[in-house]
Amino acid sequence: MAPRRFLLLLPVLLVLLGADGFGRGAGQNTDQFAYNGFASANLTLDGLAAVAPNGLLALSNGTSQAAGHAFHPTPLRMRNGAVQSFSVAFVFAIVSNFTVLSDNGMAFVVAPSTRLSTFNAGQYLGILNVTDNGKPDNGVFAVELDTMLNPEFQDMNSNHVGVDLNSLRSVQNHSAGWYDDATGVFNNLSLISRRPMQVWVDYDGATTRLDVAMAPLDVPRPRKPLISAPVNLSAVVTDTAYVGFSAATGVIFTRHYVLGWSFALNGPAPPLDTSKLPSLPRFSPKPRSKVLEIVLPIATAAFVLALAIAFFMFVRTRIRYAEVREDWEVEFGPHRFAYKELYKATKGFKNRRLLGTGGFGRVYKGVLPRSNLEIAVKRVSHDSKQGMKEFIAEVVSLGHLRHRNLVQLLGYCRRQGELLLVYDCMPNGSLDKYLHDKTRPVLDWSQRFQIIRGVASGLLYLHEDWDKIVIHRDIKASNVLLDADMNGRLGDFGLARLYDHGVDPQTTHVVGTMGYLAPELVRTGKATPVTDVFAFGVFVLEVTCGRRPLGCIAADDQNVLLDWVQEHERRRAGLDTVDPRLCGKYDADEARLAIKLGLMCAHPLPDARPGMRQVTQYLEGEATVPEVVPTFLSYTTLALMQNDGFDSFAMSFPSTVTTDASPTSGDVSAVSGLSGGR
Ligand SMILES: *[C@@H]1O[C@H](CO)[C@@H](O)[C@H](O)[C@H]1NC(C)=O
Ligand SMILES: *[C@@H]1O[C@H](CO)[C@@H](O)[C@H](O)[C@H]1NC(C)=O
Ligand SMILES: *[C@@H]1O[C@H](CO)[C@@H](O)[C@H](O)[C@H]1NC(C)=O
Ligand SMILES: *[C@@H]1O[C@H](CO)[C@@H](O)[C@H](O)[C@H]1NC(C)=O
Ligand SMILES: *[C@@H]1O[C@H](CO)[C@@H](O)[C@H](O)[C@H]1NC(C)=O
Ligand SMILES: *[C@@H]1O[C@H](CO)[C@@H](O)[C@H](O)[C@H]1NC(C)=O
Ligand SMILES: *[C@@H]1O[C@H](CO)[C@@H](O)[C@H](O)[C@H]1NC(C)=O
Repeated sequence: MAPRRFLLLLPVLLVLLGADGFGRGAGQNTDQFAYNGFASANLTLDGLAAVAPNGLLALSNGTSQAAGHAFHPTPLRMRNGAVQSFSVAFVFAIVSNFTVLSDNGMAFVVAPSTRLSTFNAGQYLGILNVTDNGKPDNGVFAVELDTMLNPEFQDMNSNHVGVDLNSLRSVQNHSAGWYDDATGVFNNLSLISRRPMQVWVDYDGATTRLDVAMAPLDVPRPRKPLISAPVNLSAVVTDTAYVGFSAATGVIFTRHYVLGWSFALNGPAPPLDTSKLPSLPRFSPKPRSKVLEIVLPIATAAFVLALAIAFFMFVRTRIRYAEVREDWEVEFGPHRFAYKELYKATKGFKNRRLLGTGGFGRVYKGVLPRSNLEIAVKRVSHDSKQGMKEFIAEVVSLGHLRHRNLVQLLGYCRRQGELLLVYDCMPNGSLDKYLHDKTRPVLDWSQRFQIIRGVASGLLYLHEDWDKIVIHRDIKASNVLLDADMNGRLGDFGLARLYDHGVDPQTTHVVGTMGYLAPELVRTGKATPVTDVFAFGVFVLEVTCGRRPLGCIAADDQNVLLDWVQEHERRRAGLDTVDPRLCGKYDADEARLAIKLGLMCAHPLPDARPGMRQVTQYLEGEATVPEVVPTFLSYTTLALMQNDGFDSFAMSFPSTVTTDASPTSGDVSAVSGLSGGR
């Protein structure tokens, strides 16, 4: 009985297997199918995908930023241990409204589910999304027909075929096209040409080799594939997987079509019958005019927009680079810089380029575009038009000053309310940083003495060696700049004049820096060469002692550097004031000379000060500094008494000095000038 029952059941079993459409060998799947058009197919569709009545499968319909999928309805058993061999052939067409542009593309996909979870459209081709792209457990294998260059996926161009494993960054790629069997010549194919094209994908499970080929519909399968490479799908594809297609759009009206498809496991895909494939929808008879119809208005709009932008940029450039130029400046032409040039040299006066903020304005570093010359640009705000001509004339004439201890003035530029002065750039910055910034290397004594000598020589040049006297007015450590050889160079000379011209002397605020102001300068507001000498004296002491002119170091300390040094000198302990950072390593004779000279130059009585020629002679050892009989009153007290009309009293103290200084009204600011805060 048992065998008969089995015989009865056998046809039922066979029918069941046959209905499935699958033949099964001993442990080996030989699943296969072929669709020449999808009219009678039972595909699982989602998203934009739809099958037209003529059997044409449209994966997308022009809706932007969306995707469409079409899968074989049942999952296939892809593995038998390793992933088995399979073979695919399909015919596709991509139809864009533009012949040169298209949306992202489409792909043949092997995936663990038809929904592909929560895919993204656009460059993700409806296969993966931003977060899961590249994850090793995605189980996704795809052959992409990519019509956009996405740099994040290292796409080679906007018309390529790629092999994707769990990621849209292809492991293999080739520009779309085919190799001619007869000649071996590669022929480009445009994926978005609207022409139907055939693709073949073959995976050999035994050798883990993948071949991808493509050709126009009327060309048989090329013998040389586009891609032929070892690709081990066993690390990717799941036991059972869906096979099908995905397409995704961005913003350009594009439709992705599949006309026919055949598939086989462990065997060649059945050939497609191209004569039975559904036809593509008819396009407008004159696609060119259609394109023009769309492109023309866009191009026109773009052109108008470009014009508007150009005009806007032009106006903005004009404003950005606006300058003030007057007729009288013609003669100074060669010394005038264009603002645009300075703007470019300093990269738009970026903070990064800021060298420092001085009394007169901010200083920026720059490189002149044409000459590669390093410059420093000082932006001085200046509202007064009065005296500008004289000042510019002076700036230009100062530009003719040339001395190795002066910072070379190269020229100027004027803008509304602003003056820009262009100087040679001094690579080592200003001296005060080296003296007072503990993070900078300590200048040794010979460097310091060299700087003092240099500055003296520069100041002498300003005072005596040029055809007219130039008063610096603001000598101080921060106005002494160091060149590449650590020579001191005076900067900012003559600049204080800017504030003198055309200004009522009664309201003049004294230009200069607290601590460096000679008492008579504070009183009268009148700068003279000897007020420069006073500041130079303070400067010499600052360099020697490494202390600022004002401000105490210890609580019981003298607030005024001058008085402090003078006190020590009176006790014949002047060398105790030498900068402790030198650790006692200095030339004692030179240091003694510097202290004596500093005190002499910074004497409260103008006539007690030497001229710069004398100073340089002392420094060069061509003359000896006279012994100044030490005063018993501090310099500050002397200055105070002088200002309060005690000139004759003050005069009687320093034995070497006679003076004809005029009696004046007491001006308390002289006191603050010497002993006030910083
Ligand atoms: C199509 O496939 C689905 C899923 O396998 C099935 O449920 C449905 O009955 C099929 N329809 C036809 C007409 O074969
Ligand atoms: C595209 O397909 C979607 C989803 O089926 C549909 O909502 C939309 O209207 C279609 N668009 C066009 C232009 O056919
Ligand atoms: C693209 O072309 C189709 C048909 O040719 C047309 O229906 C559609 O409006 C066009 N879309 C755009 C955005 O021009
Ligand atoms: C991406 O897909 C994964 C599943 O593969 C899902 O968990 C995740 O939420 C998706 N992310 C986005 C941004 O859609
Ligand atoms: C893509 O193709 C280019 C050009 O042939 C090649 O240089 C590049 O290595 C390829 N990339 C991959 C991932 O195969
Ligand atoms: C194919 O396209 C590439 C790049 O798009 C181009 O350099 C090459 O000249 C083209 N070859 C042919 C035969 O058109
Ligand atoms: C392919 O990958 C699987 C699992 O990752 C591995 O077991 C197998 O040895 C690989 N095959 C080849 C030929 O590399």
